[in-house]
Amino acid sequence: MLAAAGSAIGLGNLWRFPYLAAKNGGGLFLAVYLALLVTFGFTLLVTEVAIGRKTKSSPLMAYGKLHEKWKWIGVFAVVVPFLILPYYCVIGGWVLKYCVVFLTGQVAAASENGFFSGYITSTAEPLVFMALYLFLTFFVVYREIDDGIEKFSKLLMPVLLLIVIGVALFSLTIRYDDGTVTRTGMDGLSVYLIPNLDGLTVSGFMSVLLAAMGQLFFSISVAMGIMITYGSYFKDRGNIFTSVWQIGIFDTAVAILAGLMTVVPIYVLMGQEGMNASGPSLLFVAMPKTFHSMGFTGTVVGAAFFIMAFFAALTSSISIMEAVVSSMMESLSVSRKKAAVIESLIAFAIGAVVCFGYNLLYFEIPLPNGSVGQVLDVLDYISNGLLMPVVEIGTCLLIGWALTPDVVIDEATKNGEPFGQTGMFKTMIRFIAPVLLTVLLLQSLGSIG
Ligand code: PHE
Repeated sequence: MLAAAGSAIGLGNLWRFPYLAAKNGGGLFLAVYLALLVTFGFTLLVTEVAIGRKTKSSPLMAYGKLHEKWKWIGVFAVVVPFLILPYYCVIGGWVLKYCVVFLTGQVAAASENGFFSGYITSTAEPLVFMALYLFLTFFVVYREIDDGIEKFSKLLMPVLLLIVIGVALFSLTIRYDDGTVTRTGMDGLSVYLIPNLDGLTVSGFMSVLLAAMGQLFFSISVAMGIMITYGSYFKDRGNIFTSVWQIGIFDTAVAILAGLMTVVPIYVLMGQEGMNASGPSLLFVAMPKTFHSMGFTGTVVGAAFFIMAFFAALTSSISIMEAVVSSMMESLSVSRKKAAVIESLIAFAIGAVVCFGYNLLYFEIPLPNGSVGQVLDVLDYISNGLLMPVVEIGTCLLIGWALTPDVVIDEATKNGEPFGQTGMFKTMIRFIAPVLLTVLLLQSLGSIG
């Protein structure tokens, strides 16, 4: 359970959730996310963990074991972490850079507007930090020392949580006053928490819903075989529901607090435009500003924050690389060491293209869903916007129709675990989830706006 939570809690919580919440109107995004978590997220997590425990196989084989004709889902599920790893390492590299920035006392410089964009548009440094981050991930997978890392991160996770809570509380005390406008932390809090339904259209609501759904996959690590892998290690006597709830609640608590800690100060200091403008860079723009306003304490807390963020990211990237490496070992019959080297070289090559996407090769690629992005956004779009929905639609059709939802329910209740939501589970997996996922996919493909 803790390993799965370590995999779930990562950059998705600290970096992705806050910027999506800021972009999608704060409170509304939050409410939709929570509603999806307890219905949709819960259903998918239980399903994947149960499939893993029942088949005791890696994702590549698990689907085929359930039904010969549905083996392809496993193949898709393995492509997802393969695409995520390179850009995850690029962002991991940014985190590492900020550890150095704070440890060397450059908080004031980092809090200037334009520091972050100046950094990513420089050629060499982001590449070096990405390579370093990737090497650390590689080293753990290559030497199989994830146990040690896992124990270490168990100690660090509570510290991360405390820092996030502390900074979130501090951000409520920030205030902006330039003579004409005043914004306080409490104003920021209400933007973040209270859904604003003014002028909300159906298509506006749909895009919030879909953003929340995509984020949910990413954050709870479903649709990429990882939860199947953990499920295959899950004790036969263990209670799947309890573990799934723990993972979901812990993961979401960190995300919500991280949102509070980033969205509130950016709103206070830069207003609504700041929230719309920062996009994926929100974390790296908002946090230095907050830490700078804390004075010297900010340097210390900021350094601690980025170091914890680094470890949270590392436990996730290890599990992402592990997913690819174990499938390579199984399907190509290569050794762990060889697989880890090959996968790292590929990730480095793709990661380099992602880094250069902000400078040498500067791109603005229009995506079928109407947004425009750099290489990083393209990889994020292919994995989150296209492949993950396909994997989950496949999973729902396989469990809901080709087999029966009882396959999962029986597995999850085989020790007599009480399960009151059987009806919800069945309706979700057979009807609601596949329909929502299809809408998500169509929207990503630009077929519906
Ligand atoms: N869930 C992790 C996060 O929130 C990311 C992740 C993606 C982990 C895919 C494993 C697999 O950062």
